[in-house]
Amino acid sequence: MSEVGDKQKEYLVPGISTYYQDPLILSHGEGRRVVDLGGSSYLDFFGGILTVSIGHAHPTVTAAVTDQVKRLVHTSTLYLTEPMVDVAERLAKITPGELHQSFFTTSGTEANETAISMAQLATGHGEVIALRHSYSGRSQWAMGLTGQSAWKLGGAGMSLPIRHAYNAYCYRCPFGKTPDHCGLECAQDMDEFIRTTTSGHIAAFIAEPIQGVGGFITPPAAFFQETVGIAKKYGALFIDDEVQTGFGRTGKPFGINHYGVNPDIMTFAKGMANGFPIGATIATKAVAQHYVGPTISTFGGNPVSMRAALATLDVMENENLTENARVTGDHLRQGLDMLADRYPIFGDVRGKGLMQGVEMVRHDKVPAADLAGEFLERTKARGLLLGKGGLYGNVIRIAPPMTVTISEVDEALAMMDDALSSLYAAHQEIHDVPSTRIQYQ
Ligand SMILES: Cc1ncc(COP(=O)(O)O)c(C=O)c1O
Repeated sequence: MSEVGDKQKEYLVPGISTYYQDPLILSHGEGRRVVDLGGSSYLDFFGGILTVSIGHAHPTVTAAVTDQVKRLVHTSTLYLTEPMVDVAERLAKITPGELHQSFFTTSGTEANETAISMAQLATGHGEVIALRHSYSGRSQWAMGLTGQSAWKLGGAGMSLPIRHAYNAYCYRCPFGKTPDHCGLECAQDMDEFIRTTTSGHIAAFIAEPIQGVGGFITPPAAFFQETVGIAKKYGALFIDDEVQTGFGRTGKPFGINHYGVNPDIMTFAKGMANGFPIGATIATKAVAQHYVGPTISTFGGNPVSMRAALATLDVMENENLTENARVTGDHLRQGLDMLADRYPIFGDVRGKGLMQGVEMVRHDKVPAADLAGEFLERTKARGLLLGKGGLYGNVIRIAPPMTVTISEVDEALAMMDDALSSLYAAHQEIHDVPSTRIQYQ
């Protein structure tokens, strides 16, 4: 074990989970590649959990941040800076519908906390609807909102007024439907769900357009119109968590753009500043006017992260990266579909743009977390970094920086192909796993 590994074991809490039997210790990166301490180079197709949105050490971001660090690093929200109001103005311009006024923090967790608080102040209600399999962060409320028990440490958030409705998990539809026979039963359940498990006075319905940590679970086109429509009848505001799906990742400006619904509140973090700590909550004026405070975030809106966000948004716009995410994402998807044809342990392929997930299974769709773990090791050995997630730990998450090229996607697909072929060679029992793929509409 390396010195870094020894220090981790001694001085960091055991709750920090790292990928790989031999955890990666990274030294530096450029573009879509990172290099470890031993000098091995990897194609990074997870981008620090969908956070390095425009590539490592992007010169435009580096220049903006360096300039800012030399001028002024911190002010708190008690003093204004140009970068903070500029990012707020930018968000108001690029987000859909009437979203207009922002509050800045330093993480997705805080962005969601702020959103819940805003909804409660605006509606006068306390109860919140979240979705099964969701992930919202690591505070008490965020762990409560999270729809996966593994992430509710110590039973966090269980006593809060939160109920979890069905998500649209088409591959494992709780109603036994397939997309071609889907009557959107999961969404329609929302009405009875609210009437039987809540007081009927709801502050918010919070959801990710595509569930990230949940394993890139991708709802059908009408899911949000139906669920949001029902939740609104009971007074709820719609909080759209774009922490993973925001800023072009899915091939449209925001994940919710695929679903034709305008949120009352949107939350961001991760890719917004290409890796600098940031969280943002934007609301319509009608909602934001109730958020009168006092409230403070010491590091929220700090000028360094704000400059990083402005530079990141500039690059996304100037280089048309939303369109690149759509085009390279389609190419990635075609390649993954072809791999799934050849290797049916790739049971389900789903996602949009550069947010593609693959659920690994054995016979009868039994989740194969062990194979997913082994696949991750085998792709790493070939020089490719991927992510993992899902309630059952069996979903491979693929989300490279949005500057990725077609030839890098091909390179990654070739490494996955080779890793799969070696996995099949090592496991006789998976040779006759039949295809269980569904075709998304
Ligand atoms: C959809 C979503 N919301 C919120 C969060 C929490 O963000 P953070 O880890 O920055 O607190 C995450 C983190 O993975 C996320 O994926």
